[in-house]
Amino acid sequence: SATTKTPQSVSTMATEEDNVGNIKRQLAKIFDVSLRTTVPDETDVEPLVAACAGKFGDYQCNNAMGLWSKIKGKGTQFRGPPSVGQAIMKNLPPSEIIESSSVAGPGFVNVVISKNWIAKSIQNMLIDGIETWSPRLPFKRAVVDFSSPNIAKEMHVGHLRSTIIGDTLARMLEFSNVDVLRRNHVGDWGTQFGMLIEFLFEKFPNWEEVTETAIGDLQTFYKASKQRFDSDPVFKEKAQQAVVLLQGGEPKYRKAWAQICEISRSEFNRVYERLGVQLEEKGESFYNPYIPNVIKELTDKGLVEESQGARVIFIDGINIPLIVVKSDGGFNYASTDLAAIWYRLNEEKAEWIIYVTDVGQQQHFDMVFRACKRAGWLPLEDNKYPKTTHVGFGLVLGEDGKRFRTRNTEVVRLVDLLDEAKNRSKAALIEREKAAEWTEAELEQIAEAVGYGAVKYADLKNNRLTNYTFNFDQMLNDKGNTAVYLLYAHARICSIIRKSGKNIEELKKTGTIVLEHEDERVLGLHLLQFAEVVEEACTNLLPNVLCEYLYNLSEIFTKKFYSNCQVVGSAQETSRLLLCEATGTVMRKCFHLLGIVPVYKI
Ligand code: ARG
Repeated sequence: SATTKTPQSVSTMATEEDNVGNIKRQLAKIFDVSLRTTVPDETDVEPLVAACAGKFGDYQCNNAMGLWSKIKGKGTQFRGPPSVGQAIMKNLPPSEIIESSSVAGPGFVNVVISKNWIAKSIQNMLIDGIETWSPRLPFKRAVVDFSSPNIAKEMHVGHLRSTIIGDTLARMLEFSNVDVLRRNHVGDWGTQFGMLIEFLFEKFPNWEEVTETAIGDLQTFYKASKQRFDSDPVFKEKAQQAVVLLQGGEPKYRKAWAQICEISRSEFNRVYERLGVQLEEKGESFYNPYIPNVIKELTDKGLVEESQGARVIFIDGINIPLIVVKSDGGFNYASTDLAAIWYRLNEEKAEWIIYVTDVGQQQHFDMVFRACKRAGWLPLEDNKYPKTTHVGFGLVLGEDGKRFRTRNTEVVRLVDLLDEAKNRSKAALIEREKAAEWTEAELEQIAEAVGYGAVKYADLKNNRLTNYTFNFDQMLNDKGNTAVYLLYAHARICSIIRKSGKNIEELKKTGTIVLEHEDERVLGLHLLQFAEVVEEACTNLLPNVLCEYLYNLSEIFTKKFYSNCQVVGSAQETSRLLLCEATGTVMRKCFHLLGIVPVYKI
């Protein structure tokens, strides 16, 4: 019968597509062989492998129950899920990955991972680089549309969240060898520009020479021009004409528009520079020339209808339509997004387009994506490429539980906020008497790394959909789940290696990792799980998954391994130093993916 077939052996040799460090994928391949032997008549059985923290094993295969319900009516030799589980276990091909296996409960197949294999995998990573642990994803190019503030308007904490989350997602995809187009979809087009341009002409007759400092704060400028617009009908008339002239390409108006954009841009860039975030601006105006053809295509396909003078697309189950041409004939946010998707799919050949904005825009994106599906631009199934995803996030709250604002001003100036984070972390370092120990440049650099890292981590560690409270004291605390705690833990690991006086590069070549003590094994297994965790964070677009992994790594290192296993001066010194180095390497890669600059001493 099927169950007595000799199991074929699985090669664990690395091939190009092989995710050598990814335990889950390696196990899935092994269980796949077993499942095909166990139930040869069942096709399309996906191995269900998951990590488990039970005392029976490190991973489990959960196929038995589902399989039983598929085969029970078909005259099978099995007597129930446990016997299916037993067969799955028995048919496992020999593999160096698995140390032992057992069947528990209603048929879960538990496996204990071989510690020699864990040790060997870590050692290979130390030699070949952590890139060998990067996810392999089924597409080559992605667009991440993030940050995307609006010209002349406030760049608020929502945009800060988008910037931080979007940058991390881009970094994770880049690490996975995806070609990422980091797009800043700035709001640089629209009717407000008529008013801004007219106000600029009125306030600054010599506007062509005017600089940022002369205009001062663009937000104040915006408010003043809005006030003028609302109170003076003559001005309003002029502003409306200015829009027409601008959109018609009148050089003087284009020039004034470009100048206003430039002032905003240099303000945005100050924030990006502080955060170390790269973005390529393709604002709303960029897509404007593409809109007419896109609307025509959608109209030809029968998607566009007339409604109350506007042209709209109705979406099943949503009671408001997506307006694509306003009643005055103008285009809007939605028409721009439709043109942008068209461009990204056809011109940029993106296979995954990711939008990072607050959850308030979820319905907008839902409607836009569904319109694209109706147009046949995107497949109907969510698991096929090309695809689009809206990555929504919650609010940043102040201590009062309301939307975050600073003490005296209405809006939070992001640059001020980052300055405060840095100044506070610098003060803490000075209090720890680092000013005497380090050069001024080092103090500055570390204060920035810790301060900005703290702001980023406080945001990323939460599930992005939940609101979180902005609190400097909490995020800059050196205890608890904070960037400060993690950065210090990393610095301490570096100092253990430094103080050993050993050349770690030499040890990587000559030394061997042996996972003898239980806590060494726990640390080793967790290190190796980096690969599957990044893959999960990447495919589900959840940076908090990576934060949680990093925090646990640091806890396991400090509270288990380092508390119970003497490193320097012990008989196992070489192996343990290599484990320290591997922990440092994985932590640094996590920091890098989270956009945090590591600190090497403290
Ligand atoms: N400018 C928009 C805002 O500030 C965000 C743009 C998001 N991207 C997009 N393609 N719609 O809310």
